[in-house]
Amino acid sequence: MHKIPANTLFVGKNLVFMPECHSTNSLALNLCQQSPFIAEGTVVITANQTAGRGQRGNTWDSEPGMNLTFSIILRPNFLATSKLFYLNIFSALAIHDYLSERGCPSVFIKWPNDMYVADKKICGVLVENQIQGNELNGSVIGIGLNINQQHFDIENVTSLSLVLDRQVGLQEELEILLSKIEARYLQLRASRFSSLMENYLQVMYWLNEVHSFTAFGDTFEGTICGVDQAGKLRVRIKDQERVFETKEIRYEQ
Ligand code: BTN
Repeated sequence: MHKIPANTLFVGKNLVFMPECHSTNSLALNLCQQSPFIAEGTVVITANQTAGRGQRGNTWDSEPGMNLTFSIILRPNFLATSKLFYLNIFSALAIHDYLSERGCPSVFIKWPNDMYVADKKICGVLVENQIQGNELNGSVIGIGLNINQQHFDIENVTSLSLVLDRQVGLQEELEILLSKIEARYLQLRASRFSSLMENYLQVMYWLNEVHSFTAFGDTFEGTICGVDQAGKLRVRIKDQERVFETKEIRYEQ
């Protein structure tokens, strides 16, 4: 069971706790669509997500009761559809703020919005939008943050507890994280696009470093030089710049 956080203005003030559900993103999207007057900032959270969804059609697995798996309903109708990528930017930055404040060293955002501590993934974000015509009707920011889980089936994954070498309280972590999310969302609402982009690039994983990537069946060396306004990854390959969508390029670790 989670309590309503005390330190935010609207994020988490309406909290829907499900002991178990298939996907908080799917539930939040339904609420967003079917209840037009649902409060902005509503959080749908579960202790046991049985069919968690990740980016690119992947699944998101989380040990029951050990981590944070939740989704936030937002109504960013102030945002032009050409700027949708800023939903990834603000949410990733908020989680970066949170992890840094909790004492994690070497926190990076791996484009578009995976959170890494050193070379291990600690958190994933799934942003899903409801667009009607040319208007953004609602957005759901789904967050899977590994908190107390000790063992993972896949490599290069970690949790806050493994990084800090102690158990942490889920309620306390949720409250701190939601306040960071609200603060960054208010920056977005205030149209502070250039400072959000600047902050994002400052903590971007592999920025300005030479690494291996695979795209369209080809493996090559390249250097990430940023993202464009649409959120595509800019990579310099042999003095030529190319841009990639999320599904088009894979980082070779
Ligand atoms: C990724 O890294 O691929 C994104 C993972 C996002 C997982 C979260 S957990 C809460 C919310 N509900 C879902 O079904 N997915 C997101």
